[in-house]
Amino acid sequence: MSSGTTRDERPPERPKVTTRSIREMKARGERIVSVTAYDYPTARLADEAGVDLILVGDSLGMVVLGYESTIPVTMAEMSHHLRAVMRAAPRALVVVDLPFASFQAGPEDAVRNSARLVKRGAEAVKLEGGRRVLPQIQAILAADIPVLGHLGLTPQSVHAFGGYRVQARGAEAADALLEDARALEREGVFAIVLEGIPRELGAEVSRALTIPTIGIGAGAECDGQVLVLHDLIGLSFGRPAKFVRRYAEVGDAIRGAVTAFRDDVRAGRYPSPAETYAAAPDPPPAAKNPAAPASKTPEKSACES
Ligand code: KIV
Repeated sequence: MSSGTTRDERPPERPKVTTRSIREMKARGERIVSVTAYDYPTARLADEAGVDLILVGDSLGMVVLGYESTIPVTMAEMSHHLRAVMRAAPRALVVVDLPFASFQAGPEDAVRNSARLVKRGAEAVKLEGGRRVLPQIQAILAADIPVLGHLGLTPQSVHAFGGYRVQARGAEAADALLEDARALEREGVFAIVLEGIPRELGAEVSRALTIPTIGIGAGAECDGQVLVLHDLIGLSFGRPAKFVRRYAEVGDAIRGAVTAFRDDVRAGRYPSPAETYAAAPDPPPAAKNPAAPASKTPEKSACES
């Protein structure tokens, strides 16, 4: 089966983004732009739009696989979506999430699973947690795999948090998060995602570190921002979080387009003659003679005309 379209030309290439260039952006005061992508078209479109970092987030479990949380997401699922993203050959840095239960048991699991993802094209891995997962982070870094940290409202801890709640609102928890961020920086992570924390804390952590912070619901003073692409384009269901800004309503566009197709098919308006193929023309007289040698140039197939 064909998709009915051919692959088009790509815009001129820009330099490949690396973990090093992401770090340098903070030094230059340039804000880092990141979105999630879970497949070939979204990775390609995000890359063509010029984002700096594509995150193959385990949010894919909720956003495109329909799970209730990110907890059920498997290594096989992350790997499958990562490979689709890599086929888009993004200029953006591609970071993939280590899903729940792929690293919590210890450094050995963490390195083995990170290596599996790097073999499939990932340029860095992200894992949730602070000082308590430092042994895993040390081991992954020792295997020469760059790490993106993730602190605050870390969704894999939803049961421990008792729901998706803003984290570190009080002074003690804020101090602990700042200490986690410092520990991750000392260890050598190249950047840290800060999710679902007060903007004052997002600003304080960003000032305290030399590595970039990438915020999602952590205020405007982070060194960059990340959003789930499907939230940003209006292709997700349910009430969006407070920090989500919708730049398009793609869900409405899809529903409208499919409804129009349904109506055209039911009314016999689709397909029109211009959208159908003609039968093959009569063969030339020579081809009717069975003794004549077969032509070396095949007839153009009806599907091409
Ligand atoms: O899984 C994900 O998409 C994430 C982002 C929301 C930061 O971790």
